[in-house]
Amino acid sequence: MVIVAADDVRAADSAVEPEAVHAVLKANCFSCHGEKKQKGKLRLDTLSMAPESAADLATWRRVFEQITDEEMPPEDEKQPSTTDRKKVLAWVKDTLAANSSPINLGPSQGNYVDHEALFSGKPAGRGPRHSGPSVAAAGQDLRGVHAPPR
Ligand code: HEC
Repeated sequence: MVIVAADDVRAADSAVEPEAVHAVLKANCFSCHGEKKQKGKLRLDTLSMAPESAADLATWRRVFEQITDEEMPPEDEKQPSTTDRKKVLAWVKDTLAANSSPINLGPSQGNYVDHEALFSGKPAGRGPRHSGPSVAAAGQDLRGVHAPPR
């Protein structure tokens, strides 16, 4: 059961690798939420990249909110690129959804990327989202969250 669920997560994440997400957090978050400092009593370097417990899922949800609202990293700190933010948000969203804990986007959370494919309501989570014939045929914006930096 657990193994099947983990496979599901991976399938859902095909567009964004967990390693890429971890790398973005490492570059932007671990200095304050890592081994040496845990600002806000939060440690992210040890947070599971295959979260299943309610606690881990809840922490990822907070990460999602903080990045969406651009609260984190603090504004006087180095910021992740837009591409990197989207990568993290897409992965977290997929991962929470795959663990039956989907993000319920409120108005404030919708703002950051609402013009992107990410939250356009297209079916997500099964198969590569950037190459589906229906997506292409619809002439949708194909610059998905995993597009190379412009
Ligand atoms: C320069 C230090 C610094 C960096 C870098 C930083 N944070 Fe924080 N973070 C803080 C501090 C201080 C707090 C606690 C006070 C607050 O909430 O503002 C905090 C709190 C948080 C919280 C808890 C907020 C809540 O109340 O739920 C989350 C989640 C979070 N950070 C995520 C991140 C993420 C994700 C990154 C990287 C994208 C990041 N932080 C980068 C300093 C930092």
